[in-house]
Amino acid sequence: MTTQSENPDMEARLRDIREGIDHGRFPAYVFNDQEIFDLEQEKLFGQAWTFLAHESEIPKPGDYVTRYIGNNNLIVARDEHGEIHANLNMCRHRGNMMCKSEMGNASHFRCSYHGWVYKNSGELIGVPYLAEGYEGKLKRKDWGLVKARIDTYEGLVFGTFNEDASSLEDYLGGFQFYLDLYLKQGPNGSEVHGPPDHWITETDWKIAAENFAGDGYHTPVAHQFGFNLGYFPSSGATHSQGWAASIPGKGHGIGLGHTPGFTPFAGFPDALTAEIKKSLTPDQVEVFSNTRTAVGTVFPNLSFLMQPFSLIPGETGVRFVTMRLYHPIGPGKCEMYSWCLVPKDASDEYKEAAYQAYTLTFAQAGTFEQDDLENWARLTRMAKSSAAKGIEFPYLMGMETERDEDFRGPGHVVKPYVNDSNFRNLWGRWADYLLGEA
Ligand SMILES: [Fe+2]
Repeated sequence: MTTQSENPDMEARLRDIREGIDHGRFPAYVFNDQEIFDLEQEKLFGQAWTFLAHESEIPKPGDYVTRYIGNNNLIVARDEHGEIHANLNMCRHRGNMMCKSEMGNASHFRCSYHGWVYKNSGELIGVPYLAEGYEGKLKRKDWGLVKARIDTYEGLVFGTFNEDASSLEDYLGGFQFYLDLYLKQGPNGSEVHGPPDHWITETDWKIAAENFAGDGYHTPVAHQFGFNLGYFPSSGATHSQGWAASIPGKGHGIGLGHTPGFTPFAGFPDALTAEIKKSLTPDQVEVFSNTRTAVGTVFPNLSFLMQPFSLIPGETGVRFVTMRLYHPIGPGKCEMYSWCLVPKDASDEYKEAAYQAYTLTFAQAGTFEQDDLENWARLTRMAKSSAAKGIEFPYLMGMETERDEDFRGPGHVVKPYVNDSNFRNLWGRWADYLLGEA
């Protein structure tokens, strides 16, 4: 693979892109380009922390899911002692894929080619003809599955093959303050409600990551029907109100939509709201009390959205959370994973109602998902056109805006919610990784 260090032309282009971001410009072609895709695999997904799974997907010993770090397939499994491991899903003997299922429960994995057997922790324990073939000399402990580093935050399991990566805590860099809105839905936190939807879409992962880093600008247009039908306790007239918060230099960003007079935490049952408040700090309670919609991206490709949604127009309805991962599988192409996160302590009835709201809005066939994907797929197609090579987009909103000093959350926080500040931060971090300077 050619990297930017061996390709002065790419290095110069990346330097130009990096400088442009600070001046509110970003090129169109990067949203569908083979060279950029290859570089991202090596320099970004090969280095950064990647989201693998939520702990509640594998609650029991032996539970596993198969997921990705870049183009590497991994088995994420809970061993007999309750520890989580992420191992490359590749036999050390000749490289066959070990586990063909997406999820299940197994204490061991046996390769279907020559029969090497590994514990779900990755330890090699079975080698056919060990005595006869290897004359007893093969040391099984040297040939376990290749392990990724993992680290967790509030149920989120992240992995990396980068031995030098700083801790997940440092990587998140204070964004935990905002993630708690999705992850601390009560004293026992949040859990997934069933397995994720996942599907392949002709959309570059970056388009989706940017949208969920706080694109409140598209909502009244792309999702106009939601306003017209009264599904949301908001209107196009007040929609720009709220904040855009980002962690400078880290790439993470969140949009916090605010509706004046909106009941804090509306959409949660009252008893649950009281419990949720106990799990949060006073600053978080104040910030989240002013939040109607929260839509954020953990750099590079993990996103969340929380929103009250009503099936009965005009009523508050229920709060739902979608957690989604944009797994790149080619230039201009990604596999979308979408989960519904619910409060662990809520009633089954509430969980079901939240899941229903999620399904109707942001699951695979959700109406909002369809609105977005139609736009994103077309945008991706346009980015590939020859004319797009020379085109830059304006990322000029909020260039001069100062931090809102009254706001009690961390990071660079600006008003209004309609702002490009989060996106400049996102693409700055992206360029830093591609330049090897993250
Ligand atoms: Fe959208």
